[in-house]
Amino acid sequence: MSQRIAPLALLGLAALAACEEKKPQPAPAPTGSTTAAATASAKPKPAIEPTSTSVNPFPALPASFASAANAASDDKIALGKMLYFEARLSKNHDVSCASCHAIDKHGVDGEPTSTGHKKQKGGRNAPTVLNAAGHMAQFWDGRAATIEDQAGGPILNPIEMAMPNEKAVLDTLKSIPGYVDAFKKAFPADKDPITYDNLKKSIGAFERTLATPSRWDKFVAGDASALTDDEKAGFKAFDAAGCPSCHTGTLFGGTMYKKLGEVKPYPGLKDNGRFDVTKQEVDKFAFKVPSLRNVEKTAPYFHDGSVKTLDEAVKLMGVHQLGKELKAEEVTAIVTFLKALTADAPKVAKPDLPPSGPKTPKPDPG
Ligand code: HEC
Ligand code: HEC
Repeated sequence: MSQRIAPLALLGLAALAACEEKKPQPAPAPTGSTTAAATASAKPKPAIEPTSTSVNPFPALPASFASAANAASDDKIALGKMLYFEARLSKNHDVSCASCHAIDKHGVDGEPTSTGHKKQKGGRNAPTVLNAAGHMAQFWDGRAATIEDQAGGPILNPIEMAMPNEKAVLDTLKSIPGYVDAFKKAFPADKDPITYDNLKKSIGAFERTLATPSRWDKFVAGDASALTDDEKAGFKAFDAAGCPSCHTGTLFGGTMYKKLGEVKPYPGLKDNGRFDVTKQEVDKFAFKVPSLRNVEKTAPYFHDGSVKTLDEAVKLMGVHQLGKELKAEEVTAIVTFLKALTADAPKVAKPDLPPSGPKTPKPDPG
């Protein structure tokens, strides 16, 4: 670094010397460059530019989260979308993925914890499905490696969709003529396309389309005016506080596990988090660092949905993750910035679902 600066400094000195030599001559009219420099120093500098080094760790979102292992096609995505809204994949035909992850509510249900089969409550807050395919792993504890692996879980979870086993799910799908056709189209090379694996792949292919670029992405693509001055100052506050040490990458999260209470223990924790997956003591109370995209719209917060407002969540992060009492102005600035990560919810209407056939099982409230 110093080796690079040195020649520049010498050049600067040489330039100064040159100016001094010209001193005796009549003062020249100000050159273009000195005028520009004077104007620039008169105006307050914008807090950040699209090319600022502090901005680099947060590149623009891709248009979708493509996967080599699950190549997308329009037919696969269309089938995945139907299955996402399909309540007949639940025991009592009353719960679908969309019940707990409403796309028009930014992929969440707005509840501290969700309600599934027989109105049973789970122990964790439903994270958003928007941009979830971009995470390093799924669930608060990362127990599913991919969005496809994840999609098979809730259908068989007794307190979520409560289907007894994979065969019951496949029998239901095979009894609905519209699904027989849709699976054939989505998996044209398969002899027997209605499989649990293909169900997971189609739901995954649909979820991989749920990328939500916001004004932040316009900004990093080079449009410095896409953010307000307050939002730029808010990003600086976010950066200065140390949030990017955990909330990093295009999703502002989803790249690592960290303990809730990394610096100062968090009171009253009941959920062991990642420890349940790894059984490693270091993972006790560790959770996947959540994405901050659309966080304005996904209250309540934290793995247990115990925090009602974004201001409170940010304040608690300061105390427990960074060991800092953030000032009220800092919290306001950071929240102002976080709101620039909000995009419109994707316009995904519930598709027409194919009618049941004579053998389709009836709802089972038991
Ligand atoms: C009864 C409510 C409920 C239903 C139904 C449900 N989910 Fe979830 N979902 C949750 C909860 C709660 C979690 C977090 C659980 C955990 O981390 O242990 C979750 C986690 C996820 C995640 C992980 C996101 C992340 O950030 O890690 C994805 C993706 C997801 N669900 C997709 C789906 C799909 C697809 C379906 C339908 C097949 C579905 N969910 C059905 C409540 C539900
Ligand atoms: C040491 C790592 C770390 C640091 C530093 C950190 N966070 Fe977090 N953040 C996490 C983890 C882990 C969670 C999930 C906690 C949980 O749910 O139990 C989280 C959760 C959040 C949430 C709630 C999101 C949701 O969907 O529930 C917000 C908002 C948040 N952080 C913002 C910030 C801000 C702003 C800063 C800087 C002031 C910050 N974080 C600093 C690790 C960190």
